[in-house]
Amino acid sequence: MIDPKNLLDFLKERRSIRTFKDTPIPDEQIEMILEAGRVSPSASNKQPWEFIVIKNKEIIYKLASIASFGRFISQAPVVIAIVGKIDENPTWYIQDTTLVSMNMMLMAWALGIGSCWIGSLDREKAKMLLGIAGYDFLLTVLPMGYIKNIPNPTPRKDMAKIKRIIE
Ligand SMILES: Cc1cc2nc3c(=O)[nH]c(=O)nc-3n(C[C@H](O)[C@H](O)[C@H](O)COP(=O)(O)O)c2cc1C
Repeated sequence: MIDPKNLLDFLKERRSIRTFKDTPIPDEQIEMILEAGRVSPSASNKQPWEFIVIKNKEIIYKLASIASFGRFISQAPVVIAIVGKIDENPTWYIQDTTLVSMNMMLMAWALGIGSCWIGSLDREKAKMLLGIAGYDFLLTVLPMGYIKNIPNPTPRKDMAKIKRIIE
């Protein structure tokens, strides 16, 4: 078990990273990130997902070109695509795969590897590029790379604005 205060500090420290070093990521660390995804919780434990590890620079450049707010993907030595298998849980595949993405980003951060959730992606083009079947769902592609710059923290709403207690 991790010390709760350490965990909270760790969660607060994480940032979306958009500048990466060229340095390759060892396979062992990529495996740890994938493993963090693999052990994620899922509805009825159906695990409706697949992960694609993209190291091919040409494919990474192409992904960057179809991500309007993700051009920086091009710098990443590795990109992990998270695929939802809709047929394995048509009700919860989005929630399940979203939890996978968070687990992966946190594991990456613990390894000193930055990542960023990419929403602004032409998913149909990306699916073709990555050979993802038409009936599967491409949740996101997570660029992964050693951090070049850590940006300033992004603001959060005050707790008082978002909290309501029912006693
Ligand atoms: C669903 C979702 C979609 C996002 N899409 C993008 C994106 O397309 N491009 C990008 O640069 N950041 C994207 N982000 C990252 C957010 O901008 C970032 O998480 C937010 O500004 C808070 O900053 P932080 O992650 O550093 O705390 C996305 C985040 C989420 C959760």
